Amino acid sequence: MKNLLEEISQYVRKAFEEAGYDASLGKVGVSNRPDLCEFQCNGAMAGAKQYHKAPLMIAQDVAAKLEGASCFSRVEAVAPGFLNLDISNDFICDYVVRMSEDEHFGVEMPKPATMIVDYGGPNVAKPLHVGHLRSAVIGESIKRILRYMGNTVYGDIHMGDWGLQMGLVIYEMSLRMPELPYFDDSFTGEYPAEAAFTVTDLEEIYPAASAKSKEDPDYKAHAMEATLKLQEGHRGYRALWKCIMDVSIADMKRNYDRLDVDFDLWNGESTVQDLIPGMVKDMKDGGYAYESDGALVVDVKEETDTKEMPPCIIIKSDGASLYNTTDLATIKDRVAKYSPTKMVYLTDKRQDLYFEQVFRCARKTDLIGDECELIHVGFGTVNGKDGSPYKTRSGGVPKLSDLIDEIEDGMLVKIKENTKAKGEDISDDEAYDRARKVGLAAIKYGDLSNQATKDYIFDVDRFTSFEGDTGPYILYTCVRINSILRKAAAEGVDLGACRIQAPVNESHKALMKAISGFNAEIMSAYNEYAPHRICGYIYSLSNAFNSFYHENHILTEEDAQTRESFLALLALTGKILKVCTDLLGFEIPERM
Ligand code: ARG
Repeated sequence: MKNLLEEISQYVRKAFEEAGYDASLGKVGVSNRPDLCEFQCNGAMAGAKQYHKAPLMIAQDVAAKLEGASCFSRVEAVAPGFLNLDISNDFICDYVVRMSEDEHFGVEMPKPATMIVDYGGPNVAKPLHVGHLRSAVIGESIKRILRYMGNTVYGDIHMGDWGLQMGLVIYEMSLRMPELPYFDDSFTGEYPAEAAFTVTDLEEIYPAASAKSKEDPDYKAHAMEATLKLQEGHRGYRALWKCIMDVSIADMKRNYDRLDVDFDLWNGESTVQDLIPGMVKDMKDGGYAYESDGALVVDVKEETDTKEMPPCIIIKSDGASLYNTTDLATIKDRVAKYSPTKMVYLTDKRQDLYFEQVFRCARKTDLIGDECELIHVGFGTVNGKDGSPYKTRSGGVPKLSDLIDEIEDGMLVKIKENTKAKGEDISDDEAYDRARKVGLAAIKYGDLSNQATKDYIFDVDRFTSFEGDTGPYILYTCVRINSILRKAAAEGVDLGACRIQAPVNESHKALMKAISGFNAEIMSAYNEYAPHRICGYIYSLSNAFNSFYHENHILTEEDAQTRESFLALLALTGKILKVCTDLLGFEIPERM
């Protein structure tokens, strides 16, 4: 189905043409003066020059042709040359009915393709922190949006599991627990399957090792040596690395589970190490990579560049590969395994230039062809109320789990207040379960409702509020709808047999108009990798629903047909909200 604006524009284009003007002038937009009309067309103004005619006259000519057009209840040409338009009740009703009959509520599905979303990006042995929130939350939503559009999508976590942090941890462990067999070069037996440390140990070992390496060059040299040995295949270090991975991944999974984020591929930098030598050779043989100051680089500058574009360093002068070497090899790996037509990367926007270099390098060196699009979605920072990056009370980087705790705790207080106010008596378990679900909506909506590139303020009070542009407000609306539908069903109404009918008042019509925006907003979210579009849509849909709810008596409506049509519209609103909350990545509780 075409979106609503497109459908009404068709009529106005035709009218321009019939009146002797260019059809393309008939583009309709939502009115910027909703007090005067619902939609407007400014084409007459644009055509004035071309036709040497007063815009008002053109508008009047077109208005005359639109007389009797069933899609409008009012067409008015007003000075200096606007066309003010109101859509007819029958037209909006018919549109919403067609949406309700369509499997995807009016969204036109593109040709399905295979895509990869690279998000999460945590580093092994380091705790997940506030910086990992956005990648997880936005990435998960984008993955779901791409899937909703019929694509086969693989979410890949792309762990940092091969760099210096591994050598640091290994070296520090060798000092603390020298008796472990991993450090005994003469050991030939089976290494223990159980790790000799917990994630809590890791969380202490890594920062300690990192601090020491910054102070002590000798310590750092040992850590680098351990990194190299690991990468070259040292048997004990590989076994220890495996243990560190297991412990660390189990902890990552706990964190991501709490966010309802899951990955299809648990790959990392280590996954593609074996591809690097061949890839580097190809780059050299192809004449792309050359030596510069001992390092191997590929130029990625283009003539049209206005900003500095340094070459992509493939191999450092000491022979080590880098972060981008791995990303390039990962592109090669994904092309070979999945032939995707799109790869979307989610990272902090400070990596913008980095990804530009990597993408150019991948194209230039033929790792990837024109059939595959490479997209970097760079996001802004999570700030505290003071506007600078969010910190713990003691000034440290907050752990992701603490952030989730904070929201859940805040939510639990509100849920308890709320149930008490309603005189509802619930168990602690039930209260916690609701707090978890609503808390997830609070944290995700709080993040996703901002355009990704913008920074935002992590504000527990605001995010957990049941009023305003928040996750809990959206859920509250969903819960209200579901509860009305449940009551109706209990009263014996056959919801499946209820039909949507032309609106009987303004709030009824306004709800239909709000619903009708679904396909346009989903397409924007899809094309722009922009979950905030969906948030904006469901916020106005929720507002329209709540006004409708307050202005009409739904269950007690006396006219049976009207009541059924209200319920049918409610059911559709509920279904659409469900799709949207799924796409954003949170669940609707039964009560809250
Ligand atoms: N581990 C990286 C970091 O902490 C993020 C990885 C992002 N993904 C990628 N393909 N480079 O910055």
